[in-house]
Formats: sequence, structure tokens, C-alpha cells
Amino acid sequence: MTTESSKGTAAPGIGVAGLGHWGPNLARNFDDLGVLVALCDVDPELREQFTRRYPNARVYADFDEMLGHAGLEGVVVATPVPTHYELAKRALSAGKHVLVEKPPAMRAAEIDELVDLAAERDLVLMPGHLLLYHPGVRKLKQLIDDGELGDVLCVYGNRQNLGIVRTNENALWSLGVHDLSVILYLVEEEPSEAWAHGNAFLTPGVEDVVFCYLRFPSGKIAHLHLSWLDPHKMRKITVVGRDKMAVFDDMELDRKVTIYDKAPEQPAQSYGEWQTRTGDIFSPKIPNDEPLRLELQHFLRLVREGGDGTEARDGLQVVRALERLTESLRG
Ligand SMILES: NC(=O)c1ccc[n+]([C@@H]2O[C@H](COP(=O)([O-])OP(=O)(O)OC[C@H]3O[C@@H](n4cnc5c(N)ncnc54)[C@H](O)[C@@H]3O)[C@@H](O)[C@H]2O)c1
Repeated sequence: MTTESSKGTAAPGIGVAGLGHWGPNLARNFDDLGVLVALCDVDPELREQFTRRYPNARVYADFDEMLGHAGLEGVVVATPVPTHYELAKRALSAGKHVLVEKPPAMRAAEIDELVDLAAERDLVLMPGHLLLYHPGVRKLKQLIDDGELGDVLCVYGNRQNLGIVRTNENALWSLGVHDLSVILYLVEEEPSEAWAHGNAFLTPGVEDVVFCYLRFPSGKIAHLHLSWLDPHKMRKITVVGRDKMAVFDDMELDRKVTIYDKAPEQPAQSYGEWQTRTGDIFSPKIPNDEPLRLELQHFLRLVREGGDGTEARDGLQVVRALERLTESLRG
């Protein structure tokens, strides 16, 4: 493993901090990609388990010690959310590129500071917005950008299931971060209005059910239904365009994206009355690539070639929207 330059062609050395539920997926992918050099967790049992699993990587108990690992160029922070800001800041201050799991921080001011720090030091700061690398979400974006759907009027997300019931993070922060990252990516605007309503039924102060409404300067609107108290398991984003409508459904195996040739229209003979047109319903083939692998390959490409800070700014916009929705929820 050579690690001479962060913008050379050699494979960068990567460390993963946090080996709980999600970290092992990151470690597996980086190992497959031949870049995993270090691992870190405060839990001794996990350290022992991962020392056996990845004999070529060094396993650390202390994050700062891992930052001193010879040849380490980038770190992934997959620890609990309240630790993200502090660990990401320490890694950037130590000159490491950072991929920080979602949500990248708990306050917009924190991620603002991380964005500035990364820019000052010419380092990558990328939030783990997994869905942005999903080929189905990319297809939705392409349909919008190619004008296939006509002007986008409204977008809504459904992320519901019975469980997993969280007790330290509400449905907005735990589930909504996924849909918000996608909606802001599709719409390419920051909301001018952000409203949220919800309720904490099971754990005081932790909302299990949240409904959000966003309005954008262009007039587009968006809605989110986020809940772990629901009979339906749904992971869906619907885009209503003036000419066509499209749905990304992550619960579908083969039909991840469906395009509905349906729209309102005003035929000349209708004398100004609105009618509706229903045409074909079509599901394009979506590649079956693992979104996490695509996300991590993107991070490695940024580490090797440098980036323009787009990902860090996307992270900032998502946390900013989460913060405004939280104010509305609590207001
Ligand atoms: N992108 C996705 O789809 C996705 C899915 C699941 C989780 N996540 C995110 O991944 C992150 C971790 O979630 P999880 O469910 O794996 O949590 P977890 O609690 O299961 O694991 C976190 C691990 O971090 C370790 N840890 C805590 N503080 C540490 C520190 N200072 N240094 C090193 N290790 C430390 C803990 O011992 C634990 O093993 C969260 O941000 C979560 O939102 C993302």
C-alpha cells in the first residue's frame, strides 16, 4: 500500500472508526477494494473479532492513535451520531480525508465549521448519503435533468415500517436524512419553508412519526412521511412532473423505477378544462450495483483526484434542513 500522495494514482490507505452495525459493511467494502489499513472501536470484543477478520489491518482502541497510523490518508466515521462532529474535526485537523456517516453532524453550525476546515486544508469531507449513489435514484435524477418528466411539481418520500424503534434519535433524524438528501439532490434548491409535525408515542422526546412539508423558491413542494410505527414497509420517492410521473421504490426487486406516462392536459376542444392523460407504464432496467460500493468508490476517487467540495456542501444543506424541520417540530 503506497500512501505518498493524497492526489496521486496509488490506492489511499483508509481507516474505519465504529464497528457496530454499519461499520462492518464499510470495512468489508474497503477491504475488497484493497485499501483497508486500520480499524477502530472502543469495544474490546469488537476489536478482537475484527483483528481476526482483517489480519492485514491494524485495530485501534483510540481514534487519535489510529490517525497516527503510517500511510493512513482517509477515515470513515461510523460511530454514533453525537460523536460525528468531534471525530470528523479531529481527523480533518490531522490532515485526513473524511467520510462521515449520516447525519454528518447534529447542528448546521458544526458542519459549517467542518466544511470550512476541509476547504482550508484541501481535504475531502463527504457525508454518507448512501441513496445518492443508488442507481435507481440516479435514474430519477437523469429523468428530471433530461426533461423527461417535464417541470417537477412535487416530490414526496415514504419511509415507514414497524420498527426499528430508536430511543436516542427521532424518526426525522434517523429516517428523514435519507429522503431529504435525495429530495435536495433532485430539486437542487434549498427550501424556503420547512414545516414538521409529529409525535413521540413510545419514548418521551423521541418522535416516532413525523410528517414534513417543504416549499422551494421555484414553487416546487415536497412531503415526507417518516415512521417506525406503521403497518407498511415503504421506501419510496415519488416525483410528479408536469408531463410524466416517476417512482423509485427500494422495496421492489426488479422494478426499482417506474415511469408513468400520466399527466393533466388541456386539449383545445375542452375549452380550458383540465383533463387527464394516461399512457404507458414503463420500468427501465436499473443496474444491480451495491450503492455502498459506489459511494465508497466515489470517496476514493475524490481522495485520489480531489473534489470541489460539492459533497460537503450537500451535507451542510441536509443538516440545515434537518435543523429547520426540528425547530418546526418542537415549535
Ligand atoms: N448509510 C446507511 O444506510 C446507514 C445504515 C446504518 C447506520 N448508519 C450510520 O452509521 C453510524 C453508526 O450506526 P450503527 O448503527 O453502526 O451504530 P452502532 O451503535 O451499532 O455502532 C457504533 C460503534 O461505534 C463505536 N464507538 C463509539 N464511540 C467511538 C469512538 N469514539 N471511537 C471509536 N469507536 C466508537 C461503538 O463502540 C460501536 O461499536 C450512524 O451515523 C448511523 O446513522 C448509516
